[in-house]
Amino acid sequence: MSLIRPDERTPDRAADGRPVPGVPALELSGATLAYGSRVLWSDLDLTISAGQLVAVLGPNGSGKTSLMRVLLGLQPLTAGSAKIGGAPVRRGSTRVGYIPQKVSVESTTMVRARDVVRMGIDGHRWGLPLSFGPRWRRQRDRIDELLGAVGADAFADAPVSMLSGGELQRVRIAGALASDPALLLCDEPLAALDLRHQQEVAALIDERRQLSGTAVLFVTHDVNPVLEYVDQVLYLAGGRFRLGPPDEVLTSEVLTDLYGVPVEVLRAKGRVIVVSSSDLNASGHHHHEPNQHPPGRSS
Ligand SMILES: Nc1ncnc2c1ncn2[C@@H]1O[C@H](COP(=O)(O)OP(=O)(O)OP(=O)(O)O)[C@@H](O)[C@H]1O
Ligand SMILES: [Mg+2]
Repeated sequence: MSLIRPDERTPDRAADGRPVPGVPALELSGATLAYGSRVLWSDLDLTISAGQLVAVLGPNGSGKTSLMRVLLGLQPLTAGSAKIGGAPVRRGSTRVGYIPQKVSVESTTMVRARDVVRMGIDGHRWGLPLSFGPRWRRQRDRIDELLGAVGADAFADAPVSMLSGGELQRVRIAGALASDPALLLCDEPLAALDLRHQQEVAALIDERRQLSGTAVLFVTHDVNPVLEYVDQVLYLAGGRFRLGPPDEVLTSEVLTDLYGVPVEVLRAKGRVIVVSSSDLNASGHHHHEPNQHPPGRSS
């Protein structure tokens, strides 16, 4: 059990690092975000307990990434409050792991896979890496352990610019988990991955929340790869939202109301497909919307 830095003490953990039961990993109350007069979502109450996974769905521009930025302490709420582990959100907290939507500088430079993980351990503080001594050895072992856990041992020393999309995503997950966060924010981590890697990455994140109780907020355009793991769906659209278990939110009635246009939710072989009803009528066959958003309202 690691001792906790004084500035990282939160009510969900005792001073020796043991979890304090009953404190949610994430708690949004009356949370509202507006840019000027444009309201993205308002009066959002969302509690995520340890080990829970909440999928965030919604069309382009509905405020999914903005929600993550709020939880990273990069964007203040217009109203309401956001707490992580019982403490107000704070920029640079190692209690939050983050897999950003856009791949940053790492893919274009000669940074190695293990450097990405080390930056995660350091809480993204750039600085002189340790290069010898017992602390270096401990850190090196921890990096190897993290890379091993995501099946990335084989390319630990490869420059990230050489990795495939799926390999890079594994390394980024290891980096996001390096500080043993209470809350893992994943912003479309499956985009650009093939089906097999989508399933692998989803299973990896699921395994993590089961083993370590990490709470997960998972932004995705396709809910299917994570559907079996989802505890709640937060669906954002048109300045409003719906929150609840997948079976309650992913229905024709709820999404038609949310979008304000007829939407049909089809279920086939355990998969959810969201289409606009006009599509079905016009074309006479099922028009599969890969991003799950009815045309006309997206982007
Ligand atoms: N700092 C900002 N100031 C003003 N408007 C912003 C700011 N950041 C984002 N926006 C706008 O707010 C809206 C929501 O952006 P956001 O990135 O949260 O959407 P998103 O749901 O993640 O979309 P996508 O699916 O395309 O990633 C967009 O229209 C965006 O242009
Ligand atoms: Mg986004």
